[in-house]
Amino acid sequence: MSRRKKRRKRPKGRRDPASQQDVDGEEILHSAAIDLVLKDAAAPFAKGPEAPAIMYETLSAASEGPAPVIERKPEILFGLRNLIENASAFALTKVLIASAWTQNDVKIIVLDDGPGFSTEILAWLGEPYLSARNRSRNTVARKGGLGLGFFIAKTLLERTGGKVMFGNRRWRDVDASLDDGSVGAWVSVVWPRKVIEATEQ
Ligand SMILES: Nc1ncnc2c1ncn2[C@@H]1O[C@H](COP(=O)(O)OP(=O)(O)OP(=O)(O)O)[C@@H](O)[C@H]1O
Ligand SMILES: [Mg+2]
Repeated sequence: MSRRKKRRKRPKGRRDPASQQDVDGEEILHSAAIDLVLKDAAAPFAKGPEAPAIMYETLSAASEGPAPVIERKPEILFGLRNLIENASAFALTKVLIASAWTQNDVKIIVLDDGPGFSTEILAWLGEPYLSARNRSRNTVARKGGLGLGFFIAKTLLERTGGKVMFGNRRWRDVDASLDDGSVGAWVSVVWPRKVIEATEQ
């Protein structure tokens, strides 16, 4: 079966300074504004009759400067994608993908309005043995997942210099303007700005 590759259209003679071409002439984007990276990570879960609403929020005050342009590493994309996949699967109606930055760091939060992480899961989440040792059969039956997605996400994101935290949060504690009583699973990833920000734009 032949594989068709998607190419971005660009006027002749103009090159995106953040891109190079691979051996097939395929354009590779090495960096992108943070909101584009987040939309890219969430794209598979944004469509379909069962899909929750995916909301994007910028939590940074304007004083912190313009949105960072970040390295578009596969580890970052796939790591975030696994987190957003979970949030989309457990959300009742909506998922929040929030970003915040200061001069020193860049933070991404994924929050949903589902049941939240159970106490049992919280004790094990992020460890590689979840599926073998502690995952209930109910979990498998309900979602059909392997129970590795979170561990893989955490490992990939940590490899890029990110620190992953998780728990359950009220939406209003993440952003007061989102105060509608929603609560759910919360995951945050924080990188020192110097490790995630693209050096060449
Ligand atoms: N957003 C969430 N809300 C509630 N529980 C969650 C959420 N995300 C993960 N969990 C719990 O943590 C468990 C582990 O998540 P993980 O992503 O590792 O596995 P999975 O989604 O079951 O399978 P997969 O390997 O396909 O990702 C889930 O089975 C679920 O019980
Ligand atoms: Mg998963």
